[in-house]
Amino acid sequence: MKRIGLLTSGGDCQALNAAMRGVVKCLSCSGEDVEIYGFLDGYKGLIYGDFRMLTGHDFAGILTKGGTILGSSRTPFKLMREPDENGLDKVEAMKQNYYKLKLDCMVILGGNGTHKTANLLREEGLNVITLPKTIDNDLWGTDMTFGFQSAVNIATDCIDCIHTTASSHGRIFIVEVMGHKVGWLTLNAGMAGGADIILIPEIPYDIDKVIKAINEREARGSRFTIMAVAEGAISKADAKLSKKEYKEKMKNYAYPSVSYEIADQIQKKSGKEVRVTVPGHTQRGGSPCPYDRVFATRLGAEAGKLILKGEYGFMVGYKNREIVRVPLEEVAGKLKMVSPDATIVREAKMVGISFGD
Ligand code: F6P
Repeated sequence: MKRIGLLTSGGDCQALNAAMRGVVKCLSCSGEDVEIYGFLDGYKGLIYGDFRMLTGHDFAGILTKGGTILGSSRTPFKLMREPDENGLDKVEAMKQNYYKLKLDCMVILGGNGTHKTANLLREEGLNVITLPKTIDNDLWGTDMTFGFQSAVNIATDCIDCIHTTASSHGRIFIVEVMGHKVGWLTLNAGMAGGADIILIPEIPYDIDKVIKAINEREARGSRFTIMAVAEGAISKADAKLSKKEYKEKMKNYAYPSVSYEIADQIQKKSGKEVRVTVPGHTQRGGSPCPYDRVFATRLGAEAGKLILKGEYGFMVGYKNREIVRVPLEEVAGKLKMVSPDATIVREAKMVGISFGD
């Protein structure tokens, strides 16, 4: 008999359900008796003992379903060691619930913050296995996270739609793409959508270079310019500021997001008409694309295999086209960023995409 806890934490994404289904199907197909405890709304469920007993039926028909059947929430890692408003020690509470239910293992699905807490629980002696979810694809130790490809599809669709209206009106369009502090999503959706300019946090931009790229396109006879701008894009000037100075600047920030600042600067400096489109959380919504369904199922199945073997303390990830297990201590607290020298960046430049650098 195996007693498994499941939770999904942090921002949701596509294929969370597919991944959990993969774990549970693998365990039940092995013939092992399994009890599944689904903790609700992320770590909160484990802290406050809020769970539902789940059976195979709960996982039937959810391969294609977006969101998470368990609900999710953000419980910042830095607050984990701080008592809650009633003085409850959150880490101790999670341990007590784990031991009270006599769990063999917690399977935790999440991104960066989630992995820091998962590693903390491992250090505290719990058996933990994690699965890498996030549309940002910024998790260390895995080439790919599930949710990413689905989000690339949605952001690309958005750029495709903008393309037709941009060409009718001869305007400059900015599509602001999610991705938090990294540019994977913007880079991939931008390339897939044929964006002319791609701005990502890892390559700070110079607004004059951006305008130069727009002017050069016009000189070549193009009526419009499509820009894919990461929500975390940053100018060269801002990238030079200290953390404190940057925070100070943001206190009086006049724009809803960086894309509006860029649009304003282009309009003021060049007199050209710019429009901004922000697909926002649509990028995390809807059903997972076929790639993510397969990928999440594979990761889930491998997690199930580790549970059956009693091998804990790993994230199940993907490296060089193989599913691999990565020690949690290697994953926690590190970001996987786009290197400005990456071949994909060089190739994008080779086909004329400007990064405004
Ligand atoms: O980490 C996933 C993500 O969608 C980021 O791309 C984005 O910056 C953030 O979450 C948005 O968070 P929230 O849903 O809390 O607004």
